[in-house]
Amino acid sequence: MASNSVIATLIVMICVLVGVGIGLGVYYGVDWDDDDGGTVPFDGLEGMERFDCYPEDGGSKEACESRGCVWGETNVAGAPYCYYHPTDYGYKMIDEPTTTKLGWKVRLGRKNTPQRYGMAADTIQIEIEMQTDKRLHFKITDPLTERFEVPLEIPKPAEQALNPEYEVSYTKDPFSLQVTRVSTNTVIFNTSVGGLTYEDQFLQISTLLPSSNIYGFGEHNHRRFRLDLNWKTWGIFTRDVAPVDAWNLYGHHPFYMCVEDGGNTHGVFLLNSNAMDIVLQPTPALTYRTIGGVLDFYIFTGPTPEQVIQQYGEVIGRPVMVPYWSLGFQLSRWNYGNLTRVKEVWSSMIEAGIPYDVQYGDIDYMDEKKDFTYDKVAYAGLPEFVDDVHAHGQKYIIILDHCIKVEDGYHAYETGLSPNVYVLDPQGSDPIVGEVWPGDSVYPDFTNPDAQTWWTTLCKDFHDVIPYDALWIDMNEPSNFIRGSTAEGECLDNRWNYPPYLPNLLIEDGKIFTKTICMDAQHHAGKHYDFHSLYGHTMTEMTFETIKTVFPEKRSLVFTRSSFAGTGKYGQHWLGDNQSFWEHIWWSIVGMFEFNMFGFPYIGADICGFWFNTTEEMCWRWMQTGAFYPYARNHNGDGMIPQHPTAFSTEMAVMSRDILMHRYRMLPYLYTLFYHAHEDSSTVVRPLLNEFASDPMTYDVDRQFLWGPAFMISPVLESKTYNVEVYFPDTRWYDYYEGTEMTEQRGKISLLPAPMDRLNLHVRGGYVLPTQQPANTTVYSRLNPLGLIVALDDGHEAHGDLFWDDGESRDTYENGVYTLLDFSVSEGILSMTVMVDGYTDPNALRFDDIVIYGADNYVEGTDVTITAAETESTLPVDNVEFDDVKNVLKLSGLDLDMMTDFTIKWI
Ligand code: GLC
Repeated sequence: MASNSVIATLIVMICVLVGVGIGLGVYYGVDWDDDDGGTVPFDGLEGMERFDCYPEDGGSKEACESRGCVWGETNVAGAPYCYYHPTDYGYKMIDEPTTTKLGWKVRLGRKNTPQRYGMAADTIQIEIEMQTDKRLHFKITDPLTERFEVPLEIPKPAEQALNPEYEVSYTKDPFSLQVTRVSTNTVIFNTSVGGLTYEDQFLQISTLLPSSNIYGFGEHNHRRFRLDLNWKTWGIFTRDVAPVDAWNLYGHHPFYMCVEDGGNTHGVFLLNSNAMDIVLQPTPALTYRTIGGVLDFYIFTGPTPEQVIQQYGEVIGRPVMVPYWSLGFQLSRWNYGNLTRVKEVWSSMIEAGIPYDVQYGDIDYMDEKKDFTYDKVAYAGLPEFVDDVHAHGQKYIIILDHCIKVEDGYHAYETGLSPNVYVLDPQGSDPIVGEVWPGDSVYPDFTNPDAQTWWTTLCKDFHDVIPYDALWIDMNEPSNFIRGSTAEGECLDNRWNYPPYLPNLLIEDGKIFTKTICMDAQHHAGKHYDFHSLYGHTMTEMTFETIKTVFPEKRSLVFTRSSFAGTGKYGQHWLGDNQSFWEHIWWSIVGMFEFNMFGFPYIGADICGFWFNTTEEMCWRWMQTGAFYPYARNHNGDGMIPQHPTAFSTEMAVMSRDILMHRYRMLPYLYTLFYHAHEDSSTVVRPLLNEFASDPMTYDVDRQFLWGPAFMISPVLESKTYNVEVYFPDTRWYDYYEGTEMTEQRGKISLLPAPMDRLNLHVRGGYVLPTQQPANTTVYSRLNPLGLIVALDDGHEAHGDLFWDDGESRDTYENGVYTLLDFSVSEGILSMTVMVDGYTDPNALRFDDIVIYGADNYVEGTDVTITAAETESTLPVDNVEFDDVKNVLKLSGLDLDMMTDFTIKWI
């Protein structure tokens, strides 16, 4: 509430200053202009309402005022001394808005404020498009100068939205924009705080926020899901660095979601790939400062969090469908040393009966760390080993780095020289040379269409050598172990390598090309300055095209470390080089929430940690948590103690096997969530707030997570801790293992026992979750009988579905080669209806067991009957077990065909 009153005060204050009221749905006529503007008294702003005009070090009254800003000390901790005059600084309308097909546009003229870093645009244009009822687009450009725009294809409707959930209004002088949610009158975007700046290498815009419940922006190690608004500045620009502190990381995602008071949610996406700051302040408000491109915004009105993410996904693209096998457990490490060691680990996992679908080859399989080679000494016999892995129903994934070693006679390097497919030096003559794993290296330019054939040929030819199943593309921020290039002087002294304003990035000596190549390096499509954060994206897109050639019929994966908005359309992501410290287990939950928002439902962290040595206890708890990462891979850093599940005690191996068996049992439910993600960008891993947005208790919950709407995982995240605090929103919940209802815990935070052998898992009432008897790989689990967990809600109802296909053919959803079953429970009758029957499993899968939780409407002894379309008969179920204390009804030996409708009745 406090934050709302601050907003209200600020809005009233600004309205008084500019002499207009903020109303709805009208264009504001404002009398104010520069000539009489000075007559309005301005007494200064206290602190919270200030927007920083001097983010650099060394601010002083003179320096501040020379920017046309206001200087004044304040006692408000964190508030700037130098701040924007809310009405004198910025732009004003210089003509009347003109109507366009989707909205309107108008030109704005720069007010009489000094230039800040030079090349200020005197005239800019804002165009508003009411694209859909739930999506507003506005873009601020410089009509006189061609500026960089991110080449992302975004669907644009032909007609203006008919009944938008938002209204757009504005003030004329200074120009400001307000976006209001019509149903509640909540102003969700409001730039009437001054500071709009549009210079060649410095663009800034601020907005007030309707609440302090802000989530998103990346890639960062935010530690908490709900962002801290206490004067925090997060840089965004892709960077090779471990995710341990408040710095910019591998990906570039300028997207956030805001839960308004009452639970309506909206999202905002800034389509801009340049280095930028996101400044969060307790007003609550936020500021974007970017050093290039244009201000290109999309606002999504939800109103639920899931709908916001789905609407964002409509703009950036839906996540690619993953193969079924990728839901299995995976094992990796950097530097096993040799193939013998890999085989030992592999055999020990098989002997211990631990579910295990995928083995990786990290850079140590390569010959001198060169892509498309393998070490014929330490890894002699690798191709045969991969055949053996396949014979066990498993897969093998190899790493490929972005860097190509400069070496005469090295096939990959030489074939890329003609045509030249590498990023070029600033002169555009030779490939720019940096240094990565293999030494001096060049950087494939994935914006160059010529690179596609070259890359695809290399990947395809190498597949003939090592029959890998998917590609893991790494270091593509792009990383460089030296600054800039091997050329003398690192990078030229110009405004690209030394931009006048530097966002809050992790760099050395003010050099934005730290750990990467020079900003004036030339891509086919433009300057590295603009394409830096798109490097990983373009590499993923091209590699995605490549794997279509390598595997024409089958789905594969492209794991990428670096990503941009929309990369999830082509690839998957893991959370990078984390550390074997307890808090990283917690942070991995936050990271999964964020990447699900960013369109990467297939996400996970390196289980047991990458850098530093784990302990058995930590790895144990991490295996429990990671067993429910969508992407469940135990991966280890070079030189660290082994941490695969069989590297410790027998108890550890047994626990890992048991918990992974539970994962495998739930795979049909997980796979169905991936189908939904692919279909409409729904999240797979979800915070409670996505399901219970009107319950403020959920806003800070980031130590427990959901799979979809109905399956909750509450891991232990600390050492020597044998219980766990779990919040159960006010609905029916059941213990997954026993079906006991969490009656006492409902609507509360409760402390639940969590001894070492227990991971707390709960099922939400109102849902039907499909299951399958587990096995050691998905090849074998897919042969087993299916089952259902039916969890009843207060009205004894439940719903769910199952998506099933062959698990690996391409585009089964698009081609209709899948089966979709619907489950619905009401009044003691479960109905299974085949909605789509495009795929008949060759193993003639059948439902064997159904367990009903919360069946307090069952009277013990009553016949349970099945009416099956297959047999056109109604028969009693032979195997019925009822626990009248837990109200759990178990039906087994059902033998029901998955391809024909049935009903089961128990009252
Ligand atoms: C990078 C990757 C890591 C990998 C290592 C060696 O640090 O993030 O996962 O093991 O390179 O290839």
